[in-house]
Amino acid sequence: MTSPVDPVAHNRAAWDAQVEGGNEWTQPVGPGVIARAREGDWSVVLIGYQPVPRDWFPAELRGADVLALASGGGQQGPVLAAAGANVTVFDNSPRQLARDTEVAEREGLVLRTVLGDMRDLSAFADASFDLVFNPVSNLFCPELAPVWRECYRVLRPGGALLCGFMNPDLYIFDAEAMDARGELIVRHPLPYSDLEALGLEEVQRRWGPAAPVEYSHTLGEQIGGQLAAGFVITAFDETPHHSLEATAKYMPGYFATRAVKPA
Ligand SMILES: C[S@@+](CC[C@H](N)C(=O)[O-])C[C@H]1O[C@@H](n2cnc3c(N)ncnc32)[C@H](O)[C@@H]1O
Repeated sequence: MTSPVDPVAHNRAAWDAQVEGGNEWTQPVGPGVIARAREGDWSVVLIGYQPVPRDWFPAELRGADVLALASGGGQQGPVLAAAGANVTVFDNSPRQLARDTEVAEREGLVLRTVLGDMRDLSAFADASFDLVFNPVSNLFCPELAPVWRECYRVLRPGGALLCGFMNPDLYIFDAEAMDARGELIVRHPLPYSDLEALGLEEVQRRWGPAAPVEYSHTLGEQIGGQLAAGFVITAFDETPHHSLEATAKYMPGYFATRAVKPA
């Protein structure tokens, strides 16, 4: 009998390997981006390549305490730090966090990195952040209710959680037919889990040994879950998936929410 897969341990090694493989979400920003951010000219993405509206952030970012959650890769964390925020980057992959440290050292930025699973933010005290910035990453996390509870706990009253996530509907399709021929064949019920629908061996046969395992979740877990944790959702955005072209004609691939912990 094969032993059960620990998805978070598997995805730690997988994301470390993604860094080796040059995945675009592991590529640190260059000096020009940091220089412009220091001058106040900055933008960051939560979903696809779409800049987050400036009014989703605190009016004064300088001095704000920001948790860049599951946001390693030397991208958003260093930009927000160069714009004046006190940034902590939290991620499950040591290699992804090393990207943030690399940019911070190169640019003389102060930035803290913490390794862990986004379901457990016990490294942080209650009410210790003004903003939690969580780009598309919860597809790699098996359950979301603890994530929302922890985000709510670590935010100060009036603080905001900015979160990007996949449109769960993308997971109903047969991924092989979609990747190979752009064909949309409905195959899977939701919620979808790579481990349950395919198993690790099949995931690795299709996408290689460094493939992380994914979960579709549902809009109930995403939006209903944030509301159940106590958040008030104040803004919403969507954009097509930049690499799943067959689906982009028909539906958004990503959603983003701005949720506030009431004051
Ligand atoms: C697509 S990358 C997102 C980071 C990137 N800077 C971006 O803009 O999309 C997904 C990140 O989520 C992290 N991650 C996956 N599962 C996690 C978990 N359970 N807890 C914390 N981080 C996790 C991965 O290590 C990876 O760095």
